[in-house]
Amino acid sequence: MDQTGHARLAVVIGGANGIGAATARLMAARGWRLAILDKDTNRANEIAAELQGRAFHADVTDLPSLEALAARIEAEYDAPHALVISSGTFQDPVPPDQTRPEDWDRIMRVNLDGVFFAARAFGARMAARGAGSIVAIASIIGLGGTPLHAYGPTKAAVINLAQSLAGEWGRAGVRVNAVSPGVTLVARVLARRQAGARYAGDPGQFTALGRCVEPNEVAETIEFLLSDRASAITGTNIIVDAGWDAARGWAMYGGVRGA
Ligand SMILES: NC(=O)c1ccc[n+]([C@@H]2O[C@H](COP(=O)([O-])OP(=O)(O)OC[C@H]3O[C@@H](n4cnc5c(N)ncnc54)[C@H](O)[C@@H]3O)[C@@H](O)[C@H]2O)c1
Repeated sequence: MDQTGHARLAVVIGGANGIGAATARLMAARGWRLAILDKDTNRANEIAAELQGRAFHADVTDLPSLEALAARIEAEYDAPHALVISSGTFQDPVPPDQTRPEDWDRIMRVNLDGVFFAARAFGARMAARGAGSIVAIASIIGLGGTPLHAYGPTKAAVINLAQSLAGEWGRAGVRVNAVSPGVTLVARVLARRQAGARYAGDPGQFTALGRCVEPNEVAETIEFLLSDRASAITGTNIIVDAGWDAARGWAMYGGVRGA
């Protein structure tokens, strides 16, 4: 809500599934109005209907269509006060010589170009209006080396981009932050774990808390950063990883001690 009791509009890109959908649900419960943008139009429509918001088809790799959409949402709906960029694409942990150029391009386009294009399309309008807050979803995979040779660099770049854009638009009243989740139990990750793919055992065993992250725990941090409660926070990266980063150095001592 703003000071006049008007429900503020949040645009959630990638809001049809996973962390984006959890964030949209939490924000609706906290009194925000929602615009769900996604290339998964069916799921976007379902989430928007559930939250009494609106759904829009969006592909973050297409800058002209994002700019047109930002103008349309402002004209037909409202000027967004918040933007979440939760769209993402993923890869298998393969050696560099098996990282196919087409996978490299896809991951760069969605996870890096897409974050920049979305921030540019909506953020420039927020800066012109003099208010707004943006959260881009990075990852703990961006904090150090892993066998995700394309995905990791895009996430490291998103953390840096949030800092750069925070400096660019801070005086215009726009805050920009990154959130880096650890392994978060969205439907996509649960399906992959059930299929026995990707991880060696339960990834929760590598964290300080001994478990993975729930989507709602990431959503709480995102909503906090977007709200006025975080009014002095910009250009930072908040890690929501159940202590995965904290526990990394324990591996060579046999892992985190049990309870
Ligand atoms: N789940 C995790 O363990 C985890 C951990 C760290 C970071 N992340 C990051 O969080 C974000 C959300 O991931 P998630 O786990 O919720 O995934 P998800 O697959 O559940 O949701 C991603 C959404 O992005 C949408 N999307 C993909 N490409 C798009 C495009 N070109 N244009 C518009 N929308 C597009 C998909 O349709 C989907 O709705 C991603 O940036 C991901 O890298 C996830």
